[in-house]
Amino acid sequence: MTGSMGQAEKRESEGVRLNQALESSTNITESLIESIGSGIIITEMNDTITYINQAGEKILGYSKGEVIGKPFGLFGLNEKLNVSHSFLDQSDNLDTRREGRMNRKEGNEIPVGFTINYHLSLSGEAIGKIIIFRDLTKVYRIQEEILKMDRLVSLGKLASGIAHEIRNPLAGIKTTAQALGEEMGKEDPKREYLNRITKEIDRLNELLKTFFSFAKPQTLLLVPCHIKEIINAIIPFLIKEIADKGIRFVETYHPKLPRIRVDKIQMHQAFLNLFLNAIQAMPGGGELKIEANPVVIPSLDGSMQNYVRVVVSDTGKGIPPHILPKIFDPFFTTKPKGIGLGLSITYQIIKKHGGTIKVDSQWEKGTSFIINLPETFENL
Ligand SMILES: Nc1ncnc2c1ncn2[C@@H]1O[C@H](COP(=O)(O)OP(=O)(O)O)[C@@H](O)[C@H]1O
Ligand SMILES: [Mg+2]
Repeated sequence: MTGSMGQAEKRESEGVRLNQALESSTNITESLIESIGSGIIITEMNDTITYINQAGEKILGYSKGEVIGKPFGLFGLNEKLNVSHSFLDQSDNLDTRREGRMNRKEGNEIPVGFTINYHLSLSGEAIGKIIIFRDLTKVYRIQEEILKMDRLVSLGKLASGIAHEIRNPLAGIKTTAQALGEEMGKEDPKREYLNRITKEIDRLNELLKTFFSFAKPQTLLLVPCHIKEIINAIIPFLIKEIADKGIRFVETYHPKLPRIRVDKIQMHQAFLNLFLNAIQAMPGGGELKIEANPVVIPSLDGSMQNYVRVVVSDTGKGIPPHILPKIFDPFFTTKPKGIGLGLSITYQIIKKHGGTIKVDSQWEKGTSFIINLPETFENL
């Protein structure tokens, strides 16, 4: 024997090697598809689902077993531009990036970006379709936030322009009215008219002040500060109303609360607006609660960020679900004498501090505003 293999033996071992290579490449392809972040669904030409990857399962809330063999229509994929015909029948614009909505197993709809490609056999024949999709919920949320900030900024500019134009003539009117009052006798019956004019001028001045706080220059004077300090500073403005309405005021601060970086004047304004709303929501009394705790939240780059979470809650009338998305909009109000700027000012201030604000409300039970503010660096 020379040590070389016989012909048959050689062929067999080559076959094994080929098989192994094929198997491992199939494994690689499969593990690749499984670990991709986008959802992938493969169907036959008649839209019957033959495959879904892990990301797809997670995005849609179904398991493989629940969807394989079912029609793709299960997800009710609906294109944003209201195209009514079936997507899987479109052959002209396959593979262009599109946006739409899909139904999850739990019944909720999510926004998705998707593409549809033909699944081609080695001979180039279309044997099915490949749908690749991404969950756009977070992207949509960020877009909405940006739009909201845009609206606030342009409104701020408009407001300051108008306020400047009105303020000077108003001051003129007030001086003239005062001069008229000085010439009038004390018992003059016309004095009543003058009083009314002065009162209306004062009301307009108040309105302008609100506008100005909305249009204030954007620079922040940041200092390290304990949230308790901010709250203590505004309580005196509210104490009378809290007492008159029979509201119980409860404060809970975590014993090891870190300080936050704030522009004190602006932060006073932000919390004052929240407290005023809470008080106004409880005309017959109730409980106004403030709670502050340290929290750690992962940021976009994966690092951990320390925040102070402040929750302001009331046991007032609550906010009906259909108006919840509007409450931070400038000039949105449900109050007969409201201006509707309170929450949009608060929103703007919290954002400028690198924080977030969210609302959680139950009709007729109460409302909570949840604010996260970044912890200060000790050397500040
Ligand atoms: N704590 C709260 N309880 C119930 N409704 C609230 C509360 N805070 C805000 N709202 C709702 O949000 C709207 C907008 O509030 P805001 O911007 O402060 O304007 P305004 O107080 O002038 O109406 C209010 O008119 C009210 O409908
Ligand atoms: Mg208000």
